[in-house]
Amino acid sequence: MGKKVTVVGAGFYGSTTAQRLAEYDVFETVVLTDILEGRPQGLALDLNQSRSIEGFETTVIGVTTGQNGEGYEAIEGSDVVVITAGFPRKPGMSRMDLLDVNAKIVRGVAEQVAKYAPNAVIVVVSNPLDEMTALTQIASAFPKNRVLGQAGVLDTARFTHFVAEKLGVPVRSVKTLTLGSHGDTMVPVPSQCTVNGKPLADVLSAAEIEELVVRTRNGGAEVNNLLKTGSAFYAPSAAAARMARAIAEDSGDVWPVCAWVDGEYGISGVYLGVLAKLGAEGVQEVLETPLTDAELASLREAAEAVRAKQADVATL
Ligand SMILES: NC(=O)c1ccc[n+]([C@@H]2O[C@H](COP(=O)([O-])OP(=O)(O)OC[C@H]3O[C@@H](n4cnc5c(N)ncnc54)[C@H](O)[C@@H]3O)[C@@H](O)[C@H]2O)c1
Repeated sequence: MGKKVTVVGAGFYGSTTAQRLAEYDVFETVVLTDILEGRPQGLALDLNQSRSIEGFETTVIGVTTGQNGEGYEAIEGSDVVVITAGFPRKPGMSRMDLLDVNAKIVRGVAEQVAKYAPNAVIVVVSNPLDEMTALTQIASAFPKNRVLGQAGVLDTARFTHFVAEKLGVPVRSVKTLTLGSHGDTMVPVPSQCTVNGKPLADVLSAAEIEELVVRTRNGGAEVNNLLKTGSAFYAPSAAAARMARAIAEDSGDVWPVCAWVDGEYGISGVYLGVLAKLGAEGVQEVLETPLTDAELASLREAAEAVRAKQADVATL
């Protein structure tokens, strides 16, 4: 049987994710849901009408869901569910400002996903990301490997773009990495970054690297401030769609994602941005990458920062 993916939330993030997933032409069905009446159906119709131009056979289905789970039967049999439901930041807001309002939304969604798509892998993108990922695991009661969050693919892509732009080289010659949380304790890892195979430190000064690291850490806010309403969605949706595809295709691709860490780097019992191998079961393996002492210390600091907040989400 063909693969099925559901995207919950048909706002900017959700609709662009659905578009990318459909255009891959590897899924039989993309289900796009929202609490709004008409929006998911309209977007689905519009996307389906692009099929002959873009050359994909995937069918997109738009569904309105209700407070008590109405409409969720449409997600039955989903291999992957991407949760984008929730409010984005406004300029000047931190991701944590969204905690209470998005926790209610994400908890409700996770409970319905557990009921109607009990075998799915859930990719969370709603903010604050690390906390919403932890909450989704609690509310769904899914095994921890079947719940993961999208942050590192995006943060790493932003870092890669900034390095490529600074040096005037193709993005494909740049490899970067960010770990840690999707927030103030994001941990860019310059020691693992290369340009045409050369260490980043050989092609940029320490001050230049620091400048790009800071810009990466504030990457979402920079877009927010320019857009004024709503937050970034092109790069974020590219990240979530790639993860959903890797899971559906059981590809074993290695990406930086928000995954449950259980002993790696000497850190346990927390959802944290780490490199992980993705497959049909979600996170197949968390990989440890060599870090400098300072990077490892930052990662442990990030783990402690998000651990405290993740412990609080159980009551939200
Ligand atoms: N993880 C990341 O890297 C990253 C990057 C960008 C944005 N985000 C986050 O993604 C989320 C979505 O962003 P956006 O730009 O699409 O926002 P948006 O406002 O455009 O869309 C959100 C949609 O969610 C819907 N929604 C609300 N409650 C729902 C529910 N219970 N079920 C289904 N749908 C529901 C809304 O009706 C709306 O259409 C935000 O929380 C944002 O902060 C995360």
